[in-house]
Amino acid sequence: MARIAVLGSGAGSNFQALLEKLGGQISLVVSDQPDAGILKKAKAAGLQTVVEEGGPDLSARILSHLDGIDLICLAGFMRLVKEPLLGAFPRRILNIHPSLLPKYPGKAAWEQALVDGAGKTGCTVHFVDAGMDTGEVILQAEVPVLSGDNAGILHERIQQAEHRIYAEAVRLVLERLKHVE
Ligand code: GRF
Repeated sequence: MARIAVLGSGAGSNFQALLEKLGGQISLVVSDQPDAGILKKAKAAGLQTVVEEGGPDLSARILSHLDGIDLICLAGFMRLVKEPLLGAFPRRILNIHPSLLPKYPGKAAWEQALVDGAGKTGCTVHFVDAGMDTGEVILQAEVPVLSGDNAGILHERIQQAEHRIYAEAVRLVLERLKHVE
């Protein structure tokens, strides 16, 4: 069974969806925010948690907790992942982003879609590289932008799609890794 670490800074709804769909494969949750909802959810599920606050060497400090981990899932992690963490997990760090990348990278992507007057947006699971939301796409789902949408309603609709596709993308990547090992 694969061992997955989830890194997040926020509420942790994607973590919760991953946990429900991938069960015992999630073995560690790391956050840079001591009060993050994701930590409360992880503790409630009886999982091991680690807090590493921002600052120098954050990626190295996180890496020091990842012995035996096969795959990393970023789920609302609001920090850039850097060396030596990136190089230690080549094509083994995934992120979920609330737009159809390469459209609307960066913060509040659902607001960018609204400002743009887009008829549709969505979410993307991609491999993480040194850029912001630039790595190879693994899976995407489209979400319509409806008249009367505001930022909250649209983000909520995108998150429902996120909760569907993140676990599916993880399964795809784990399946591919089995074939190369
Ligand atoms: C999600 O919308 C994700 O796309 C973005 O941050 C949000 C995290 O939400 N990167 P949650 O903490 O999983 O509820």
